[in-house]
Amino acid sequence: MTPLTAEEKLKLLINFGNEISTEVRLEALLDKIAHKITAMLNCDRCIIYLLDKKKHHLWSTISKGKGLEHSEIKIPLKAKHIISDAVKERKTINISAKKYDLSLTMNIDLVTEYKTKNLLLVPITNEKGNVLGVFHVSNKVDGNDFDKDDEGILQLLGTMASNYIQISKLYENLRLSQLETIYRLAVTAEFRDQEDTPVHLKHISIISFLLAKELKLSKSRAEDIKHASPLHDIGKVAIPDKILLKPGRLTNDEFEIMKEHTKYGNKILDGAHSRFLRTAQKICLYHHEKFDGSGYPFGLKGDKIPVEAKIVSVADVFDALCMKRHYKPAWAPEDAFKFIQEKSGKDFDPKVAKAFEKVYKKIRPLYNNEEDSSLLEEFSFVSTLPISQ
Ligand code: C2E
Ligand code: SIN
Ligand code: SIN
Ligand code: FE
Ligand code: FE
Repeated sequence: MTPLTAEEKLKLLINFGNEISTEVRLEALLDKIAHKITAMLNCDRCIIYLLDKKKHHLWSTISKGKGLEHSEIKIPLKAKHIISDAVKERKTINISAKKYDLSLTMNIDLVTEYKTKNLLLVPITNEKGNVLGVFHVSNKVDGNDFDKDDEGILQLLGTMASNYIQISKLYENLRLSQLETIYRLAVTAEFRDQEDTPVHLKHISIISFLLAKELKLSKSRAEDIKHASPLHDIGKVAIPDKILLKPGRLTNDEFEIMKEHTKYGNKILDGAHSRFLRTAQKICLYHHEKFDGSGYPFGLKGDKIPVEAKIVSVADVFDALCMKRHYKPAWAPEDAFKFIQEKSGKDFDPKVAKAFEKVYKKIRPLYNNEEDSSLLEEFSFVSTLPISQ
């Protein structure tokens, strides 16, 4: 890559605000900013750390450059670290290759399989002078060190980017509170018949998401399934207590009424606009269809059943079997797993049942000790619901 001319740099600067203003989602926004900075400074990596004031750390989820696609980095503010120093002392730190000491960013280099040669850190401040985070760029492609020009450009970009970062954080909070409200609605819908509904719904979300990833669905579809799957039984709100709370087996007539929960869910979500709620609607309607056509409400077969519903079906049945219900005792997870495999090709899509073999290994610890599981932590609904439209 050849360095940009002064004219080209100026052009990029002028367009910077316009181009990043089209992105409201935080992750995509940071991604875009990092890309532009990498091009403008002709370097091979830009990490953007944002300050989490509540948790007292700097974090970065996206970062462009070798080995960095999916790394998440967290640096406690109180840690003795060059990155936290730049934020605490609000100063630009420019370290040349000659002065660069391997230990400075060793831990980050290790996680990201990267070798820093020189680096430039510039705090991102808004117009009030509050620090929002820090840019961390490294290794100019031409082998030179970062100069005063680079420092100036990065400071300017920081100020320009700060507004957009703030807006997108507000937007993210709004999305999170919407998702949380919807999730609480789902809990309400199932609270009558299951005291441990929040646990069941979290399990379903985790299992469905992991299945979607295992089946190589796109990231945004997997995210939609993660958020939509807890709504699968929302139609149960319309089922009378007499049936829903019946301690023993349902009569055929009662089960016919029970089956309607799929259609009620579909109706509740009818006309929804967001992609994620439309996914939820599909899941509500089809999550009791079976691969061989023996399910309800329509008796759809195989590929006629949306993949999202086939995924949630495995997650729902597995977890329902493992949980105690007022109409049945809890099964051992091993037995529930065997059940899913036995019903592969009958109740469940063989591809989904196969994917569940791997997923099962990951989620097995959830069924020993809820409190200790890092998976539940990762899926803690209020803090990590990601944003997708
Ligand atoms: P749910 O309790 O959430 O169960 C979801 C699905 O898990 C069930 O869908 C079924 O496929 C599977 N499942 C749950 N427990 C068992 C079990 O002991 N054995 C087997 N083989 N599969 C099980 P399904 O059958 O379509 O039922 C839908 C909903 O209808 C259930 O949701 C539950 O709310 C209700 N329901 C089903 N059977 C009974 C019952 O015998 N008595 C009562 N009171 N309610 C029932
Ligand atoms: C995908 O294309 O993301 C999965 C395949 C499918 O939709 O059935
Ligand atoms: C039940 O009684 O378990 C529901 C009826 C059925 O699964 O066919
Ligand atoms: Fe259901
Ligand atoms: Fe369920």
